[in-house]
Amino acid sequence: MTTLSAALAMANDATPDVSDDHAQILEGLRSRQKWISPKYFYDERGSELFDEICRLPEYYPTRTELALMDRHLDEIARLVGPRASVIEFGAGSNVKVRKLLDSLDRPAAYVPVEISADYLVRQAEELARDYPDVHVQPVFADFTRPFELPDHPVTPERNLVFFPGSTIGNFTRPQAADLLEVMKLEAGAEGALLIGVDLRKDPAVLHAAYNDSQGVTAAFNLNVLERFNRELGANFDLDNFRHEAIYDRGEGRIEMRLVSKRPQLVAIAGTRIPFAANEHIITEYSHKYSVEEFVALAERAGFNAGRTWIDDVSLFSIHYMTVAD
Ligand code: AVI
Repeated sequence: MTTLSAALAMANDATPDVSDDHAQILEGLRSRQKWISPKYFYDERGSELFDEICRLPEYYPTRTELALMDRHLDEIARLVGPRASVIEFGAGSNVKVRKLLDSLDRPAAYVPVEISADYLVRQAEELARDYPDVHVQPVFADFTRPFELPDHPVTPERNLVFFPGSTIGNFTRPQAADLLEVMKLEAGAEGALLIGVDLRKDPAVLHAAYNDSQGVTAAFNLNVLERFNRELGANFDLDNFRHEAIYDRGEGRIEMRLVSKRPQLVAIAGTRIPFAANEHIITEYSHKYSVEEFVALAERAGFNAGRTWIDDVSLFSIHYMTVAD
């Protein structure tokens, strides 16, 4: 069995950087509709800016989900039962998983799954220190595809896949359906899912959340160009691009864009990319669901609807679902 320190040593060797992915980045920038994957947002600066976004008055998802957790964790713990292994898809801030581990009955294990080791290493070390009775075992993998789960000293009574933050919204609906199938597979028989999902709502609320008055989301979006300049030797002039986030009501999603303010040529990894004035790069989708729509999607992927908790003004939802037989 891999120990935590061996896994962490592997992580340090395995941390991907953008230079490994430049073919995919160029493919996106050469497409008719230019796009950049949101996974490139999260270098060190991008992760700091995202943490700042989570504290903004306009960005309701984080505080609403945390308040929902505070209100319903006793019930969640009763539903999950004793000695669960918590498998977190992605490794974000520790706040939510700590709340969960604190409320569960003698959790057996915690398995954060993340392809990039940056957050994972720190998070796993801190949690292993603070939860000596929980077997903390990170897995370095692309969680959109099936991966192997580690063994634990205490056999868990059930796997609980944990996917907070409405990160599911950053996948297209078909991708979200595929991801839910991977979650079902990893949860296994008797397994369960605890997932945060942002809800469809007044477009004005969404617009404010993704176009905040302090410009933090704009800085977060533009940071990806700075990252490409640094790590791929690109020459994006950040003054020549502006942030835009629009809500497409039909698609039920926010589209984050970087708009070229003027015609320009940008060099990146030895290729010149032309931009027309007002042409945009799509950098992220953030899909919003109705409760019924999300439950139906998860049911099609093989989960049984369990409990859904929603805040008083229907901004955000948390779903607990079990794997169907
Ligand atoms: C990580 N993800 C759920 C965030 C969202 O709301 O879609 C990322 C984000 N983009 C802009 N603001 C926040």
